[in-house]
Amino acid sequence: MTRHFLRDDDLSPAELIEVLDLADAMKAAPFDHKPLAGPHTVALVFDRPTLRTQVSFAAGIAELGGNPMTVDGGLAAMGKREGVEDVARILGRQASAIVWRTAHQSDVDTMADHAGVPVLNALTDEFHPCQLLADLQTVREHKGRLAGVRVAFVGDGACNMGNSWVLAGASAGMHVVVGAPEGFTPDADVVARAVGIAQETGGSIQLSVDPLEAVKGADVVVTDSWVSMGREEESADRLRIFPPYGVTDELLAHAEPDAIVMHCLPAYRGKEISESVIEGPQSVVWDEAENRRHAQKAVLTWLLERS
Ligand code: NVA
Repeated sequence: MTRHFLRDDDLSPAELIEVLDLADAMKAAPFDHKPLAGPHTVALVFDRPTLRTQVSFAAGIAELGGNPMTVDGGLAAMGKREGVEDVARILGRQASAIVWRTAHQSDVDTMADHAGVPVLNALTDEFHPCQLLADLQTVREHKGRLAGVRVAFVGDGACNMGNSWVLAGASAGMHVVVGAPEGFTPDADVVARAVGIAQETGGSIQLSVDPLEAVKGADVVVTDSWVSMGREEESADRLRIFPPYGVTDELLAHAEPDAIVMHCLPAYRGKEISESVIEGPQSVVWDEAENRRHAQKAVLTWLLERS
């Protein structure tokens, strides 16, 4: 059976740890693993802006001995010139795996149903699971463990990163508190699924409208842009609602003194995170960005070995 990575809970809690262990091994010895030697091609399809995702996948696939084949989703007129079902079968005949950034989760599901090779979600409106692997690798590096670690996700909890944090955090046995205004909490079905997973792993999921309450006692403080891709028209309203949720020195003072601060980037300094916090000693955002490469190499290798 072909394995895919379309949302965070496509890996069981035990599988998640296997992938993170492999990511650590690949980080320690970046050129020692060549599962794509041949080279096998991996298609990287982007319908939306990208920097970290494109460069970390391209560099990582090259390190694995493979050939990263970037496809401009706009030029291909993905889903317009031909349907996702047809594109899936075309790409699946050329590439050993497909990495796709697009708007709708239903489209990556369709791609996975028809490609015949592993499909990895490189961000949809709903989930950003590759980012979460890098984030969890980063937390483990700085905190030495995942189970029992307290995470505060502050800001737009309704975006892909909010959904992915509750799912992946639950799988990792973490205590995740989402501090978000009313109407901006993660998807109710995703929260219900995460609560179910947390019951197995010893983690927990909590929602709060109070950013101070969310951050209190946190070991990890996470934020993301208040205006995700595709939400640009809502900018004015969002910039009115979200300022109390900005990660400033004042807010961070309510977390544990050795809390780390994470952001998937790009960051809007002075909005969801202050200049002093992102550039300060508690920020691990550059480690997080680097770990995209190691974590994605690991999940790609893991999926190919099992497909
Ligand atoms: N929530 C953000 C993540 C960017 C990597 C967005 O979707 O734009």
